[in-house]
Amino acid sequence: KHRVIFDCDPGVDDAISLLTAMASPEAIEILAITTVGGNVPLETVTRNACALRSFAGRRDVRVFAGCPRPLVKPPVFADHVHGEAGLGAGTLAPCDLPAETRHGVDVIIETLRGAPDASVTLVPTGPLTNIAVALVKEPNIARAVREIVLMGGAHREGGNITASAEFNMSVDPHAAHVVFESGCPIVAVGLDATYQMRMTPARMERLAAMGSAAGHFVHAMLEHVNAIYADLYGAQGCALHDPCTVGYLLAPRLFETLPCRIDVETASPLTAGHTAVDFHARTGRPENARWVTRLDADALFALILERLARL
Ligand code: BDR
Ligand code: CA
Repeated sequence: KHRVIFDCDPGVDDAISLLTAMASPEAIEILAITTVGGNVPLETVTRNACALRSFAGRRDVRVFAGCPRPLVKPPVFADHVHGEAGLGAGTLAPCDLPAETRHGVDVIIETLRGAPDASVTLVPTGPLTNIAVALVKEPNIARAVREIVLMGGAHREGGNITASAEFNMSVDPHAAHVVFESGCPIVAVGLDATYQMRMTPARMERLAAMGSAAGHFVHAMLEHVNAIYADLYGAQGCALHDPCTVGYLLAPRLFETLPCRIDVETASPLTAGHTAVDFHARTGRPENARWVTRLDADALFALILERLARL
């Protein structure tokens, strides 16, 4: 069983990722959800995380707010994609149980400090600010990390916020740099992988056909994003980024990865957040990650649907 801290910025696809994880208690023990300013401001993503746990019938899951802004750069939000409330056209009952008062970064540190070596998995699906601050504040915690399975980065596909950078890396490239330098084992689920997991009309149909509150909610969120990306992606549909991380935890056999060295550009205004992914030791620097090259989208979508149907 995976023991996991989800660090996120819900966010349409973060929301689907959290619902999939909360519906999988036999495989995933959620130690905490920590939030970070990203797709929309911190207050909003935290409220969404709280509302999502109630929606999933998981009031036992603990939520803590982390950092409101990136380390160095001014914040950049993605409300043009996720909507001002962060959940597209999806609506939830207002959160009836607020986040706890401890700071998300301290919760990450304390959880890892008390854990055996290589026992806790971190799943960041937003900018890496909280994870970086935790690692800087207490570097020793790296020993308790089993793996960081993060959504972020772009290689062959190019970027989605600038020509070469993916959103999570671009918002806080300095934090990403700290995380890739940390020595923790990392699986990077970047755009090369998540662009293979598309919300096609057929898949949207299957969501609608679920006929449940969860199916309706997820469909409404994605319909909003699909409408925004209609010109760009047409019938392919938008990519379902963040749930690929949970899919990787639940069914790693659906993913192909390659070991590599990943370094993050922090200096150039043109390419900040670009992930330089080196599969051939061209830099002579040690490998620090595995890059997801392929995923089985049909099987992954079926898995996500099956989990959502449990809610
Ligand atoms: C990432 O950016 C965010 O908008 C999504 O939630 C996802 O984590 C994709 O680039
Ligand atoms: Ca996200």
